[in-house]
Amino acid sequence: MTRARLVDDPAVKDCTISEISRFNEDLCRIKGWVYNKRSSGKIVFVIVRDGTGLIQAVASREDVGDEGVKLLDRLPQESSIVVVGKVREDKRAPGGYEIHLLDFRVVDEADPDYPITLKEHGVDFLLDHRHLWIRTPRQRAILTVRARFMAACREFLDKQGFIEVSAPILTPSVCEGTTTLFETRYFEDKAYLSQSGQLYMEAAAMALGRVYCFGPTFRAEKSKTRRHLAEFWMVEPEAAYMEFEDLLKFEEAMVSYVVARVLETCEKELREIGRDPEVLAKIVPPFPRMTYDEAVKALQEKGYEIAWGDDFGAPHESEISLMWDKPVFVTHYPKAIKAFYMQPDPSRDDVVLGADLLAPEGYGEITGGGQRIHDFDLLMDRIREHKLPVEDYQWYLDLRKYGSVPHSGFGMGIERAVAWICGLEHVRETAPFPRMLTRMRP
Ligand code: 4AD
Ligand code: MG
Repeated sequence: MTRARLVDDPAVKDCTISEISRFNEDLCRIKGWVYNKRSSGKIVFVIVRDGTGLIQAVASREDVGDEGVKLLDRLPQESSIVVVGKVREDKRAPGGYEIHLLDFRVVDEADPDYPITLKEHGVDFLLDHRHLWIRTPRQRAILTVRARFMAACREFLDKQGFIEVSAPILTPSVCEGTTTLFETRYFEDKAYLSQSGQLYMEAAAMALGRVYCFGPTFRAEKSKTRRHLAEFWMVEPEAAYMEFEDLLKFEEAMVSYVVARVLETCEKELREIGRDPEVLAKIVPPFPRMTYDEAVKALQEKGYEIAWGDDFGAPHESEISLMWDKPVFVTHYPKAIKAFYMQPDPSRDDVVLGADLLAPEGYGEITGGGQRIHDFDLLMDRIREHKLPVEDYQWYLDLRKYGSVPHSGFGMGIERAVAWICGLEHVRETAPFPRMLTRMRP
């Protein structure tokens, strides 16, 4: 009979690398993959990753035998492995600890041609291998920030009494303009992938007061910029009886809260990504505001050729956002460049009570929102002006027929906000599997 191996011993506790400090001087078992290794003949140093972090395991002949050392030495990168060893504090080690390896089991020996080596790769190559690229520490850190950011959004909204209401993805009508619709077949009919859950949230707000939806949205945008995805996630709060001024206060409170929560829960990840947390510590209310008029004037003074009535392009947004070290609200856009549902400014009919929030450091728009039209006739006029099929909006018009109230909301794009928080060049790294104009795989 063979002796039970330490790697299988039920008395040894499983542990993740992130909680390793609790096991100092104790035995523990880590289930992971070989990230890297080096050897000095008699000793092999294996860097193990388990999804929560990296740790160096040190294996010597005395503990794992000659065969063990040889096996580890030739084990390809990304082989899956279970290791048992004694945890030791080591100030020089990256996470402050290492493991003195006593036993291990190879679960699956990886093919020796793992495509993502520790050298630099081009971004197209990495995107083609996104299913493997996400195993690298930097991508792990970004996806962790994304998850904590999304959790913080829910946390804030739930605490404020907002009820999450899921909006449909398959929709019969347009929310954000007809040029960016993904059309799909819907049995004998056709449907569009949702551009925004807003219209449904307006209905839900009249039922539940304060609501939000959180999910994927789609834009067939033929833009190949570092800010555009064809599929992105959006959180969209909507509140009955909330007017424009209160919306802006609410938005800045939410953005400040989620940034603070990410700082609290992801400091290690932000440093790993190379983001200075100090920059984000400045994100506290109140946020500066500029009207569209002021923004156009400021751009003209900086030499931009832009006229009143033009929409901002990415360079304009970047320029405006570089004027401040906090996010800045740009408000009161011309009616002609905004969506059909925006409430006109009561003192000026040519601009609307809408606001975009532009993130600093040149990031540009991360949220868009405003007060919605609550008057039936006015909304009907706007639907007609936009040449939208009235019959498709009958249900939406109903909200203005049965106890209509002023109401407001906004949408925050998760990928854009996370790209800013992480200080990334491009939104693509913040989506687990990005969908872009030229890419739908893997
Ligand atoms: O400004 P948008 O189009 O506003 C709406 O969809 C409103 N219906 C939201 C609402 O009021 N409930 O989009 C909102 C946000 C943008 O500020 C941006 O962060 C993000 O969604 N976004 C995109 N993110 C990535 N790729 C794209 N193609 C995006 N388009 C919008
Ligand atoms: Mg917008």
